Amino acid sequence: MSEERTQACAALLKQARVVIDTDGTGEAGLEKIKTLLVALADRGEALFPLSDFAMPNAQGRNHILALEDGDGMGLYLTINMPGKEAAPHDHGIWCVNAAISGREVNRFYRRTDDGSRAGYATIEPIGEVMVEPGHGMAMADHAIHETMVVSDVPSVELALYGYALARFPSVVWFHPEFSSVRAMPSRRAEAA
Ligand SMILES: [Fe+2]
Repeated sequence: MSEERTQACAALLKQARVVIDTDGTGEAGLEKIKTLLVALADRGEALFPLSDFAMPNAQGRNHILALEDGDGMGLYLTINMPGKEAAPHDHGIWCVNAAISGREVNRFYRRTDDGSRAGYATIEPIGEVMVEPGHGMAMADHAIHETMVVSDVPSVELALYGYALARFPSVVWFHPEFSSVRAMPSRRAEAA
């Protein structure tokens, strides 16, 4: 990885940590981090040439750019192919994305049942954001989003998560057409 990119990604993590320590990870803090991440993504292929990052074997692929010490944040370059979609899900941890190229629509949902029935959930849409060059999105710890790449070129994005993907909490997947919900195992215990 180029030295300039390594330094820029390490600097992003440091700046994000300052924001979190000052503003927390509520909407105000995450919006500031989004601004930082969009500025980094705007350096585009000069800093993140696609030739440095292997394309997905299937629909999507993550490349580690920088990891914070001490069970901290993870910064990735993600490549998703045209048409790649992800059903509504909750990461359990906040996430900020910014586009280098391509367009990915993020639709946000709110859970509308009380969570008292195992395996049952209902959700309703509450808005959407297009992640395309010059733009990003931020979602809080238990926000629910659904994604789809709508460009005819791959979506290449910077993705910053509150935890590294290898130490991710349980991701909860919703299938509104069946009013069902399914939680994947947390990686935090085994990675601890
Ligand atoms: Fe997601």
